[in-house]
Amino acid sequence: MYTFTPTPELSNAELHRELLDAVVAITADEPDGVANMANVAALLAQFLPRLNWAGFYRLVGDTLVLGPFIGKPACIRIPLGTGVCGTAAASARTQLVADVHAFPGHIACDGDSRSELVVPVLRDGKVIAVIDLDSPDLARFDEEDARGIERLAEVLSSRL
Ligand code: SME
Repeated sequence: MYTFTPTPELSNAELHRELLDAVVAITADEPDGVANMANVAALLAQFLPRLNWAGFYRLVGDTLVLGPFIGKPACIRIPLGTGVCGTAAASARTQLVADVHAFPGHIACDGDSRSELVVPVLRDGKVIAVIDLDSPDLARFDEEDARGIERLAEVLSSRL
């Protein structure tokens, strides 16, 4: 049994530090990428408040394919360059979207989503997956969240 539990009353920065520590620990000795994505999706949902979806899309050829996640069933395949996830994958850049309805081409997998953070995971300079976080709150994510999830993506680079 794993007992990674966020300490109550933490600041957002501290939550990200504890989340990163938990991700490093839980993926350290496991080479299976699916198992690691599944546990990291669970940790994201456990540590970060106000999310309605947290998980992964993997880049297979020129299509993002749904990976392990917590949330409602989601779009299975997203073409590179389409929506928030496809834009993050095509540009290899974090997408911090305060209002998903204002993002051209946003794909509404869950009608509850209002804001979104998508961070690419790179290996040897190439995108291999994206981490996707959705919130029912407008402007839920800030630069601190973006930097926190980018650190997590660096750790996962060799563990997916
Ligand atoms: N909204 C995303 C699609 C994935 S779901 O949020 C899980 C997008 O526009 O890429």
